[in-house]
Amino acid sequence: MLKIENLSVGFDTSKGRFTVLDGLSYHLKKGEILAVVGESGCGKTIHSLAITGLLPVNARITGGSIIYKNQDIAKMDENALRKVRGSGIGMIFQDPMMSLNPVFTVAAQITETLRCHTKISRKEAIKQAGELLKKVGIEEKFLKAYPHQLSGGMRQRVMAALALCLHPDILIADEPTTALDVSVQRQILELIKKLQKEFSASVIFITHNLAIVNNIADRVLVLYAGQKVEECSKEDLFKKPLHPYSEGLLNSVVRLDSNDKRLKAIKGTPPAIGEVLQGCKFAPRCPYATEKCRTQKPPLFEVENRFVRCFKYGGQNG
Ligand SMILES: Nc1ncnc2c1ncn2[C@@H]1O[C@H](COP(=O)(O)OP(=O)(O)O)[C@@H](O)[C@H]1O
Ligand SMILES: [Mg+2]
Repeated sequence: MLKIENLSVGFDTSKGRFTVLDGLSYHLKKGEILAVVGESGCGKTIHSLAITGLLPVNARITGGSIIYKNQDIAKMDENALRKVRGSGIGMIFQDPMMSLNPVFTVAAQITETLRCHTKISRKEAIKQAGELLKKVGIEEKFLKAYPHQLSGGMRQRVMAALALCLHPDILIADEPTTALDVSVQRQILELIKKLQKEFSASVIFITHNLAIVNNIADRVLVLYAGQKVEECSKEDLFKKPLHPYSEGLLNSVVRLDSNDKRLKAIKGTPPAIGEVLQGCKFAPRCPYATEKCRTQKPPLFEVENRFVRCFKYGGQNG
């Protein structure tokens, strides 16, 4: 569905260029929900903006490729990108106001999108918009509402309708439930799962919340400081995280299967942007770090059908 190879993204600042995504590779399979997890600042959003060609003006793709339908998104011009965003890749953001226009009604926003990309009459577009709203669990009468007249959960539903109205192959959801309370959060997750099945889309679900990963994902990619440190099935991650960072993430949430309900947060903070480390980027926070970890960069090792960036799994040479 989507093949990302060695993708690097940097920011140009007055102090030079800083790398925020460092050689990321993964394949998104058809019909799967892939969760991308990691602490704030590890590059989750930047990676999704690179895929949709929406990077901020001072950010650059400095290497690698994003192959979608035999074309490289990393090399597309704005026109081609707009087509991909229209019908290939839909996006739901944490803040619905990123994609909802406050001065237009719900009907206007959905029909505008529909009519920009397909040749249908105004009447037909309004009919389709009403049907879409019903699919995302909103009554048709809200077609006439403005975004500010809707609750946070309803805005997320409208954004889901907008993202899906052109039947994209890929849906990227970037922390879409973070600002919502828990019961609304659950409803939106159920909605995304339902729509994913109905539209047979592949989903990249970005979150820092492992409970959500457990609820929604088929596979998981753990990002740390702009690098993939582990990639595996959801079951494998929760049964036995391999990377010390994944282990730390799991230890910092309440485990339902454990009597020990104390949380153990990972000590320290991720490297600051622009900070150069000689060895593994996680070494300063890692309880298992050795001299080798502090001086050499671990490659990705393949272990039992999963990937992990840690010398612990390097076999005899590790
Ligand atoms: N406009 C910007 N200029 C400079 N650095 C930025 C900008 N936006 C994000 N960054 C940096 O890029 C890194 C990754 O950010 P982001 O992808 O938003 O993280 P996440 O979504 O995982 O929380 C962070 O270190 C952040 O400080
Ligand atoms: Mg983010």
